Amino acid sequence: MPPLHSSTQHQPPLRLLLDCDPGLDDALALLLAHADPALQLVAVTTVGGNVSLENTTRNALQLRQYLGFERVPVAAGAPAPLARPARSAAHVHGEEGLGDVRLPVAGAAASTAHAVDTIVDTLRDSPGDVHLVATGPLTNIALALRREPRIVEWAASFVIMGGSYTRGNATPAAEFNIYADPEAAAEVFAANWNVVMIGLDATLQAIATPTIVDRMRALGSLGTEFAVPLSTFWTDPNDADWPGQAVHDVCAVAYVARPDLFVSRPALVRVETEGEYTSGMTVVDFNAADPDAADPNATVVTTVDVDAFWDYVLGVWALVAPEIDDRAAHAGERTRG
Ligand code: BDR
Ligand code: CA
Repeated sequence: MPPLHSSTQHQPPLRLLLDCDPGLDDALALLLAHADPALQLVAVTTVGGNVSLENTTRNALQLRQYLGFERVPVAAGAPAPLARPARSAAHVHGEEGLGDVRLPVAGAAASTAHAVDTIVDTLRDSPGDVHLVATGPLTNIALALRREPRIVEWAASFVIMGGSYTRGNATPAAEFNIYADPEAAAEVFAANWNVVMIGLDATLQAIATPTIVDRMRALGSLGTEFAVPLSTFWTDPNDADWPGQAVHDVCAVAYVARPDLFVSRPALVRVETEGEYTSGMTVVDFNAADPDAADPNATVVTTVDVDAFWDYVLGVWALVAPEIDDRAAHAGERTRG
């Protein structure tokens, strides 16, 4: 029997800070973080990545209002990588970042604090208590480490969606979040903490297939107007057997609540910053447990229990679907009235 979901054991919720670049799958990750009663979203920080910082921050604010986590601060961070120009993934996520989904204009602004200060202050205020999750380029995290190296001790855990040990998606060698800011990723992996790396090897197992999309439709307007369009906006034109979009970033949030859904192995991960063809590649050494090798610095996820993952994700989304539908309907009435 799988372990009981922590909410059924009456544990206090696990506190989570999500650093993200919404982004189709970042938006779905925010939905999970908000919806799971076993999690408590304490702050959202934004970074330039899939689209510009201006767009990722606007999207985070609109998502906060639509999903209903208005008390959670949203703080904007780095607009560009540490040492190179910004790269966009607008060809995947749409020019504005959320595909065809257009959410109501947000009534509240971002916090006046910078994302880097929000990360450092949130972790400092509750040492050992807040799980740090990053689903965009690692620029804000690297800057936070430079500002306050002790965040490695204060984070309850550090989980990223990023990297790969088999293949890339931005290039044949590199996954987008690492490729976008390899210098930041190299600093983050070199810091004295364990990085839970959920890369493409794992996230490409978590696909919104047509069957899963049908199950999303059953969620009402949260499904038909939000989860389905976000999960089906992009199709790889080069893949004749396209199975559906992967919900990469959702895996990173799911890992905090349900690590039992994933298989992982310790590894030493280094980031290539200079290769002509391999910049942004994560070089993953699973033999790092060998006494002659350097110590592992990462827990690399290899396998997702796909059926249990979707049962969990869709089950949790269903918990908040009625209230989000209600709010959206009332907002529509107000607009029409
Ligand atoms: C990652 O890159 C972004 O485009 C997605 O939001 C995800 O974080 C997948 O490679
Ligand atoms: Ca992302």
